[in-house]
Amino acid sequence: MDSLKKTILEKIKPSEQEQADLKFVADELMYKIDSLTFKVGLLGVKSQLVGSAARGTWISGTHDLDIFITFPDDTSREDLESYGLSVGRQVAKEAEHWDEHYAEHPYVKMRYKGFDVDLVPCYRVSSASSILSAVDRTPFHNEFIIANLNGLEDDVLLLKQFMKGNGVYGSELKTEGFSGYLCELLLINYGSFEKVLEAASDWRPGLLLDILEHGKQKFKDPLTVIDPTDPKRNVAAALSLDKFCSFIDVSRSFIEAPDEKMFFPSPLSPISDSEANERMADRKTTILAIVFETPDVVDDIFYPQFAKMENSVVPMLEKSDFTVLKSGKWSGDESVVVIELMAGILPDVKRHRGPPVWVRSHAEKFREKYVDNEDAYSFSIEDGFYVAEIPRKYASAKYLLESELKGCSLGKHISKSVKDGFVILEGKNILEIEDVGFRSFLNGWL
Ligand code: CTP
Ligand code: MG
Repeated sequence: MDSLKKTILEKIKPSEQEQADLKFVADELMYKIDSLTFKVGLLGVKSQLVGSAARGTWISGTHDLDIFITFPDDTSREDLESYGLSVGRQVAKEAEHWDEHYAEHPYVKMRYKGFDVDLVPCYRVSSASSILSAVDRTPFHNEFIIANLNGLEDDVLLLKQFMKGNGVYGSELKTEGFSGYLCELLLINYGSFEKVLEAASDWRPGLLLDILEHGKQKFKDPLTVIDPTDPKRNVAAALSLDKFCSFIDVSRSFIEAPDEKMFFPSPLSPISDSEANERMADRKTTILAIVFETPDVVDDIFYPQFAKMENSVVPMLEKSDFTVLKSGKWSGDESVVVIELMAGILPDVKRHRGPPVWVRSHAEKFREKYVDNEDAYSFSIEDGFYVAEIPRKYASAKYLLESELKGCSLGKHISKSVKDGFVILEGKNILEIEDVGFRSFLNGWL
């Protein structure tokens, strides 16, 4: 295990030169910010490097700098936002590229000397439980991790890379996995990379880790890790049940047979037309794809809407008697929801059960509507109920989607994009989508 850890660290630990380069750029930016705020008389405003760059827990090649512009806690919100943004804009004058983003406060994101830099204004408060905005916790995280990590930085790198390699790293809504801070806390809790994996092999949903034993609240999440800097917060709140379970699964595999490949799995190759056709022919199911242009919004807005779309389209098909085996989704320039059905065409006959015969007024209305109905196939009594066999409104799943998709609950941006145009592809026609990203996804999905 030690030699394996060493081999992997050689690949992911930043060299001294790389560390020095990062420190140089971070110091330069902080000096610029502090001189600017000093010049305009913003006394008490200070810059601070936070996140993995400040804690020595960043992976070689990932060049992110999280620099916070911290304001005294009696600053008004308007002042914090306007000064924060104007400082950011001035620093960004020398950036290769920059733009403004809106989280809880507006902030500047820029590309500067090869680094992706976030310049985030926040309040400097006395403790993380008296924060005025969500980002105000971050400096406290920094302080706690630096004071408690005690030489476990390398193990954090290993854990982050292991999670990246297995698709569970990142707390954004696209991934719903483990954040960097959560990795650091797992290491402080368990003591080493391999101990985290050994413990995870026996995890069950509902697990509570409370390093300082100061939690004040119960959470219903699969994993609860009470924030050492704020007893009311679960650091693992963004982790989905499936990502929690994926981590259990890959931890068991690694403990049983440690293998470098689990840190750097080769991505799935794009599936060819012939291979995809062969697999679809073997499955003998119906595969449909809903294709639309990806709306131009940030991932944290798009992905929840994308999940909502899948969760509304699948039940609609099921309500019309189609049996859905599975569904999946992929997004690039275009977005695709793929659905596999037992069968895409149902018989025209649909059984429609009416009221019991003895509930007279309802029964008579039902009888009147269907007994001599030319379209109905039959009318009978079964177990005391009237039953009419009638033609189905949608015998084709493709036609159902084409007709009813716009009426599904889709979320604001996807709804607009779908209204602007979408197509439903069926069977081998899904291979009209040639995007290699989609083809790699399809290789795993089929
Ligand atoms: N943070 C947080 N909650 C989140 C995201 C971020 O509290 N959902 C805080 C954490 O203190 C984190 C810091 O913001 O350390 C910076 O965020 P980010 O860059 O996403 O994470 P890093 O810890 O820097 O990890 P990475 O190596 O992936 O950059
Ligand atoms: Mg970071």
